[in-house]
Amino acid sequence: MKKTLRDVDVRGKKVLIRVDYNVPLDVNLNITDDGRIASTVPTLKYLLNENAAIIIMTHLGRPKGKIVPEMSLMPVSTRLSELLGRPVKFIGSGCISVQSKKAAGNLNPGEVLLLENLRFYPEEEGKSRSGEKDKTAMESFAKELASMGEIFIQDAFGTVHRSHASTVGIVKYVKNAAVGFLVEKELKFLGEALENPIRPFLAILGGAKVSDKMDVIENLLNKVDAIIIGGAMAHTFLKSCGVSMGTSLVENDKFDLSAKLFKKAEDRKVDFLLPIDHVVANKVDFLNKNIPNDAIVKTTLDEAIPDGFMGVDIGLRSIDKFSEIIKSAKTIVWNGPLGIFEISKFSKGTLGIAKLVAEGTDKGAVSVVGGGDSVAAVKKAGVEKRISHISTGGGASLEFLGGKELPGISCMPDNIVDE
Ligand code: 3PG
Repeated sequence: MKKTLRDVDVRGKKVLIRVDYNVPLDVNLNITDDGRIASTVPTLKYLLNENAAIIIMTHLGRPKGKIVPEMSLMPVSTRLSELLGRPVKFIGSGCISVQSKKAAGNLNPGEVLLLENLRFYPEEEGKSRSGEKDKTAMESFAKELASMGEIFIQDAFGTVHRSHASTVGIVKYVKNAAVGFLVEKELKFLGEALENPIRPFLAILGGAKVSDKMDVIENLLNKVDAIIIGGAMAHTFLKSCGVSMGTSLVENDKFDLSAKLFKKAEDRKVDFLLPIDHVVANKVDFLNKNIPNDAIVKTTLDEAIPDGFMGVDIGLRSIDKFSEIIKSAKTIVWNGPLGIFEISKFSKGTLGIAKLVAEGTDKGAVSVVGGGDSVAAVKKAGVEKRISHISTGGGASLEFLGGKELPGISCMPDNIVDE
């Protein structure tokens, strides 16, 4: 058990908190989904109740160590201030600039300061000014960040799979450190699903490539009772069994891996479910996420996809088949869409699964949804409030499900309770 916010005395202290406010922005720099900001409010409100002075650190985008004005946290500071119902100080210069340090030094209990994008400095990601790997530069950057506060709170679940100055380096330079409520909640839901699931335990995995989710499938096969695979990933599994997949996206070099995973599922008596029919199209405008006017769209009779067509969604018979398994599951973990759900004609499968997972949850199952696309699908289906836990971590939740160590968690102190 990691030390949590409740285990440290933050009353009236200067608290540095790492959050993940890497939120989507439109061309006018409006935030299109503030979920990641909203999810840290409980931690921030607790700190404010404790009269702490809060210094917030986050990245936004991948500016690669350069100042990119479109990746400034200015819009985030406005939204955060609205959500907290109080002013948020924002210093437009660098996060360790003289001005930022001065603002942190002058910050009073009960005040909030948001530092500018950490990744405007290459040192955050362990690089020197010239872009080479440089551990010393990262350490001194971490030390500078740490010098602004007394206690470090890790609440950036979406970034704990990164070993950066603000996620790992900083910990040894502060007096005390603990995980925030968001990280605690993420670890509880994801951890319990993996280690102590109520059975039957079902995993639903979608997305484009088997290679992206190989570790996840392999690790989950040790834990689950059933696994549903959809999305383009399913094409690789089906083709590896000799089923024709037309012009669908297939990873031809992953057939050995597919065979290994089928064998593992068989050995462990895991139900391995693949689509039994598909919505297919002969043309898709991937760039504009559109169906060209002259495109032919149809549903296959079985799992085979005819020449000249590609799979774009699972078919209704597949949804029916999967619904039986989803209805009987007591723990459901879902990551990745089952088709090109951004195009509404191809979204029935993914949105249908979202609704089925919500219905299962209504009837008592524990459901955990992670990954940007599946979270977007849950929102599009209007069922987000009916899911037990929506993870804020895309890459981080996948690494967790893949059984990998999360450096931003393992570096945090354990909660040692006296007997
Ligand atoms: C994310 O959006 O997954 C996190 O903020 C991590 O971002 P990164 O992949 O750029 O490190």
